[in-house]
Amino acid sequence: MAREGETSQSKIEVRNLTKRYGELLVLDDINFDVAEGEFVAIVGPTGCGKTTFLNALSRLIPITQGHIRIDGEDADPKRHNISFVFQEPTCLPWRTVRDNVAYGMEVKGLPQAEINARLEKILELVGLTQCQNLYPNQISASMLQRIAVSRAFAVNPDLLLMDEPYGQLDVKLRFYLEDELLSLWQKLGSTVLFITHNIEEAVYVAQRILVLSNKPTKIKAEVKVDLPRPRDFRDPEFVRIRKHVTELIRWW
Ligand SMILES: Nc1ncnc2c1ncn2[C@@H]1O[C@H](COP(=O)(O)OP(=O)(O)OP(=O)(O)O)[C@@H](O)[C@H]1O
Ligand SMILES: [Mg+2]
Repeated sequence: MAREGETSQSKIEVRNLTKRYGELLVLDDINFDVAEGEFVAIVGPTGCGKTTFLNALSRLIPITQGHIRIDGEDADPKRHNISFVFQEPTCLPWRTVRDNVAYGMEVKGLPQAEINARLEKILELVGLTQCQNLYPNQISASMLQRIAVSRAFAVNPDLLLMDEPYGQLDVKLRFYLEDELLSLWQKLGSTVLFITHNIEEAVYVAQRILVLSNKPTKIKAEVKVDLPRPRDFRDPEFVRIRKHVTELIRWW
């Protein structure tokens, strides 16, 4: 993984990304790059197309125009590992915590020994070892979201897409899970695109923030967040960046 602040060759290249639903132009000629191992947050107004944007990147929906390249090749879910964490945690109720985290790796067809080795590591990192044999209906909402996050990291994704994963959780839990997410990211080196409504959250987690406009949606601004970690919400530079992004959003 590139050191924070270091630039490396682009992992993800998005060129002229355009998405229409019929007459409705949602994404309007979007261009950006993401470096290997980079953590990028995306903020934008309600309904501007954030989810559409992630769905397009993961190739869940067809795009109208443009290219998405991963390591220089057209993004292809069969060849690339693109992982997704949705706003609502998605767990299979008939599988234990452990087997839910394993699910993505099973789908990828990883050998069982490899799956077990990665499970030990990840369950430990997110503190799920103790409850690995419980079922989803026996654990809390934040635990469920941890499963979804762990499952997404476990496949060593080329690109990890997160759509407001902590939007539903209370503030204290969110802080905790954000730190856990950062720790996973730092240890496993995945490339992360993280959507949030919460500007403070974006400044806390990301190395760079893409601010989207209203529809038809373009990238309105890019804000670098070059602050040491763990970040301090009261640090004057943190506050300055938060205000700057808020200002950009005020003109939506
Ligand atoms: N399958 C679809 N068919 C037609 N229009 C759609 C479809 N999916 C989304 N849209 C429209 O595209 C626009 C962007 O929707 P999208 O859900 O991507 O926005 P969002 O930024 O994720 O919103 P939110 O902040 O509510 O999560 C909206 O105007 C929505 O109504
Ligand atoms: Mg959305």
